[in-house]
Amino acid sequence: MADVADKAYDRDSSTAAAKGTFWAWLNKRFPAEEFIRSQALDYYAPKNFNFWYFFGFIALTVLVIQLLTGIFLTMFYKPGATTAFDSVNYIMREVDFGWLIRYLHSTGASAFFAVIYLHMYRGLLYGSYKTPRELLWLFGMLIYLALMAEAFFGYVLPWGNMSFWAAQVIINLFGVIPGIGPGLVQWIRGDYGVADATLTRFFSLHVVAVPLILLLLVVLHLVALRQVGSNNPDGIEIKEKRDRAGRPLDGVPFHPFYTSKDFAAVSGFLTVFALIVFFVPSFGGLFLEPANFTPADPVSSPPDITPAWYFTPYYAILRGMPNKAVGELLLLLSVLAYFFLPWLDRSPVKSIRYRGWIFKAFLGLFTISFIALMYLGMQPPQGIYVTLSRVFTVTYFAFFVLMPFYTAIDPVKPVPQRVTYHGSEAEQVSSHG
Ligand code: HEM
Repeated sequence: MADVADKAYDRDSSTAAAKGTFWAWLNKRFPAEEFIRSQALDYYAPKNFNFWYFFGFIALTVLVIQLLTGIFLTMFYKPGATTAFDSVNYIMREVDFGWLIRYLHSTGASAFFAVIYLHMYRGLLYGSYKTPRELLWLFGMLIYLALMAEAFFGYVLPWGNMSFWAAQVIINLFGVIPGIGPGLVQWIRGDYGVADATLTRFFSLHVVAVPLILLLLVVLHLVALRQVGSNNPDGIEIKEKRDRAGRPLDGVPFHPFYTSKDFAAVSGFLTVFALIVFFVPSFGGLFLEPANFTPADPVSSPPDITPAWYFTPYYAILRGMPNKAVGELLLLLSVLAYFFLPWLDRSPVKSIRYRGWIFKAFLGLFTISFIALMYLGMQPPQGIYVTLSRVFTVTYFAFFVLMPFYTAIDPVKPVPQRVTYHGSEAEQVSSHG
């Protein structure tokens, strides 16, 4: 109690010392200092974070890049079946630094998924979806769905031939729903075929509706994160062991300890990002597909219609099935499966460090399956590619469907009381200072 009172007194006196300054003026009217204190200085994060814990902050950085570059693209892009393709060419050739803005945005889309996949994979490695972080995980999954929608709508906007045919294929997926399917497809397109009305509504969704939803979900994700606190590579709840002042013994103040590390990580990320933007923006056809450099042609589809690389695992599952409806159902389930992880995993431990060989084997097989499906989704749908897609679809789903069983019998190791940390002595001392 006395400590809380001391803190309150400190806060009053620091503000008093700053009387007459703009900072004091502001804080009397807006809780800026209180916010920084509660969210960074007085917020303790586990001291054993590793490489995998950078990706949330990097994802925030990419979100900002996408919003800023998107605003500038929208100034010059002209939605419409007769104007869209030319306006993108205009941006690339005539607008000052238009090429840079566009490459930042197109590379940003791929970077977003690369970062998010690593961010989600960390969740699998350290059991971050388990109690008490179920809701945090669910908000993450909703972000993932919104991101998929955002990427799909954006992909259609340049109105290249791949844009057109991707829209055709994806919207037609809804046609399989019994009864309402055909009507729904027409309602989504706003016309009898993919046309101007489709493009303009996708523009509105891409530029206004989905970004708003995405931003709201990111705020909810972060609020949920702060409520339960971060997990860590040991999967130990640091809130359970505190010093007399109530500070977690295995925690360090978020600022300056993690703000500095996060900024170092973002610098590294931006270096790689810039190398791609300036030297290989189409990334061998993975980030910008060659078929999209020709305008939309409703009577001639590209030889192979493939989605962007981040959707190909699901696309391989869809195309691998002999029956269209079964393929679509599995496509839906392959994405929705992640939502159920908190309830499928029955292991008493969170982190891979203390799991047994059975979980490790299943996670390994899942990792191989996801990467293999990603590759197979880029290949033509024939022969060995289809056979392999089916095999890896089975191993992909085995990870989820068998999880309640193998996590219950997995020979786990004892979890230590405190996090394992191998920092220097000086760091250990300063972290408690
Ligand atoms: C725009 C997208 C996203 C942003 C900006 C974002 C941001 C963040 C940030 C800043 C953190 C804390 C730092 C860190 O642990 O890396 C975090 C933690 C977390 N995020 Fe995300 N996130 C996003 C998407 C997702 C998605 C798609 C999922 C999973 C489906 C997810 C699941 C989690 C989980 C489980 C944690 C806690 C992990 C732990 O403490 O071990 N996030 N997120």
